[in-house]
Amino acid sequence: MKKLLAIGLVLLTHLASAQNIHIRINTQHVSLVYGVSAEGRLVQQYLGQALQPAFADTTLKGKQEAYVTAGMESLLDPAIRIVHNDGNPSLELKYAAHESAPQKENDVTATTITLKDPVYPVTVILHFEAYYKEDIIKAWTEIKHAEKKPVQVTAYASSMLHLKADKYWLTQFHGDWAKEVDMQEQYLTTGMKILDSKLGTRANMLQSPMFLLSLDHPAEEENGEVLAGTLAWTGNFKFGFEVDEHNALHVNAGINPYASDYTLKPGEIFTTPAFIFTLSPKGKGQASRNFNRWALDYGVLDGRGPRLTLLNNWEATGMDFNEQRLTALFGGTKKLGVDLFLLDDGWFANKFPRNADNAGLGDWAPNTTKLPHGLGYLVQEAQKQGVKFGIWLEPEMVNPKSELYTQHPEWVLRLPNRAENYFRHQMVLDLTNPAVQDFVYGIVDKTMSENPGIAYIKWDCNRMLTNTWSPYLKEKQSHLFIEYTRSLYKVLDRVRAKYPHLPIMLCSGGGGRTDYGALKYFTEFWPSDNTDGLERIYIQYGYSHFFPSNTMAAHVTNWGHQSLKFRTDVAMMGKLGYDIKVDDFTEKELQFSHDAVETYRRISDAVWYGNLYRLVSPYKENRAVFQYTSEDQKKTILFNYLMNIAKNDVFAAVKLQGLDPQKNYRIREINLYPDTRTSFHFDQLYSGDFLMKEGIQLTGNGRSLSSNILEITAE
Ligand code: DGJ
Repeated sequence: MKKLLAIGLVLLTHLASAQNIHIRINTQHVSLVYGVSAEGRLVQQYLGQALQPAFADTTLKGKQEAYVTAGMESLLDPAIRIVHNDGNPSLELKYAAHESAPQKENDVTATTITLKDPVYPVTVILHFEAYYKEDIIKAWTEIKHAEKKPVQVTAYASSMLHLKADKYWLTQFHGDWAKEVDMQEQYLTTGMKILDSKLGTRANMLQSPMFLLSLDHPAEEENGEVLAGTLAWTGNFKFGFEVDEHNALHVNAGINPYASDYTLKPGEIFTTPAFIFTLSPKGKGQASRNFNRWALDYGVLDGRGPRLTLLNNWEATGMDFNEQRLTALFGGTKKLGVDLFLLDDGWFANKFPRNADNAGLGDWAPNTTKLPHGLGYLVQEAQKQGVKFGIWLEPEMVNPKSELYTQHPEWVLRLPNRAENYFRHQMVLDLTNPAVQDFVYGIVDKTMSENPGIAYIKWDCNRMLTNTWSPYLKEKQSHLFIEYTRSLYKVLDRVRAKYPHLPIMLCSGGGGRTDYGALKYFTEFWPSDNTDGLERIYIQYGYSHFFPSNTMAAHVTNWGHQSLKFRTDVAMMGKLGYDIKVDDFTEKELQFSHDAVETYRRISDAVWYGNLYRLVSPYKENRAVFQYTSEDQKKTILFNYLMNIAKNDVFAAVKLQGLDPQKNYRIREINLYPDTRTSFHFDQLYSGDFLMKEGIQLTGNGRSLSSNILEITAE
């Protein structure tokens, strides 16, 4: 009895002291504070603008359980659900410990909070990394247990956040092939709204894993509180937004548990991907600037490293080419002055030649009719002309019409007892099988080592997972979606161990893969096959909320009816490339394009690393204005697009942002088409103050589908 009393006392003291615990996760402008309830549960006490160091956390009132468990008393959609060995489907998580340690020159602080179930041996660790300067928080979770046999984990959010406002407005980035990231905003009514993907490989074809959540009113560009979030996972994701009966909002973000019950062995650690978010007090503009800066320094491979301009042959030739035709195209690369020639789909397979998309995928030997001297010859020929050479691969896929399919039917994801289902005449390889991982890695490694000098890869992935079943996973089919993505990362880890800085473009039939789980392996991504200059404005505008411009491959092609100048100006806001028949260019077109490439090199520092201000949204007016300003405020590049102007359009002066009010700036139109003159008359110096308060008229020549680039330099 005495002993029991003693234990009781220890527990009480422990709980009492636990209640004084306040765990602050701080960035420069954001604070997330956790505490411990009287029952010993971890509660979110605060999420909002940074609290001053002197602020007494004890006054914080938030009592919402931080990481809601299933099977207990909460009425909310849970962050985690576990079914134990004895069939009990409940989990209670109590605070056990926490730790906080600054890393990396104190910019990043890592915090862990350990939670334990008092009845079952289950431990959950909540991880946070707070990026102080960038105002970004990365949150993920580890789940483990020491029960005798495996438990079933059927929900496993990376993070759960709780917000309280009068109203909530959610922006999603919805799409389809050639219509990626269309921004749609809605008012959240009571109940649940879910943004998710169940498509597996080409996971983001319909929905991109990112959202903006505006508090109290629809999201504005430079005003109001906006939470921007994304999941670093190249697969199925789910964001749940639940407005409860008290008008509080609960956000659950993580891997989509759809068809993915996870059998977790004793001692095994289930690590969720990171949910990455920022909370901006200055609208979505500041939220994207936070993301862009974080991405350049932490999120993207070689974020501040070099990027190659290129000429791609996909739009110009499709799969209809041979050695002569390709080497002739190298000349175009040279004439444009870009760094690299990128050979796209159609260069491989012999028994089932890759002359169309219905054959050859999986047989990665150069087609001897098209390329009798192999790839190495092309690399050398390109080098002779002073350009680098890059190659397209789609290593995760197979056409049934291929030798690979015949030799390894057991490597293909498909239902054993039903008709095969094709998308673009192809199927997905069972990457969960280590032999397939070796094969996929081997394709990259073989292509690279047999053809020294290859300087770039475009990694494509043209179909999603449907009718799927893994011969390798057998009775563990519910692990397929998760294991596929983990296996992809295993392959990419091997690729990066051997080729750490090779530029690789992430492509998925357009923008079907666009996430920070992949971008730590890739230097850039292909936002969309849609390169129509006008439609690209919307697409690049959408992605710019989360991704810096040097990650967005943007090619000048023949899509769209706009002038070459207009299409080039749009591509110059991303990572510039061409995919066009250069030989069909007139002299003037060539002159313009060559000069544009040079101009791009000169301005790319500001465009890639500068702060982006989306001054006019194409969703709001028949024009769009983007401003990129260097950190030191000395250089601004402004892109101005007049779209399909209506008769009654009156365009107000555009006020610039982020300049130094004290500095004087000179404005000059650049990237003019040969023999044209600027229609602006900026023949004086303007103070930053004037440009930001009074603004400038940007009507230009006033014609639909015209564009301008202005270089604004401090003197
Ligand atoms: C889809 C990509 O998005 C295109 O750019 C091109 O590479 C084709 N695949 C090739 O099959």
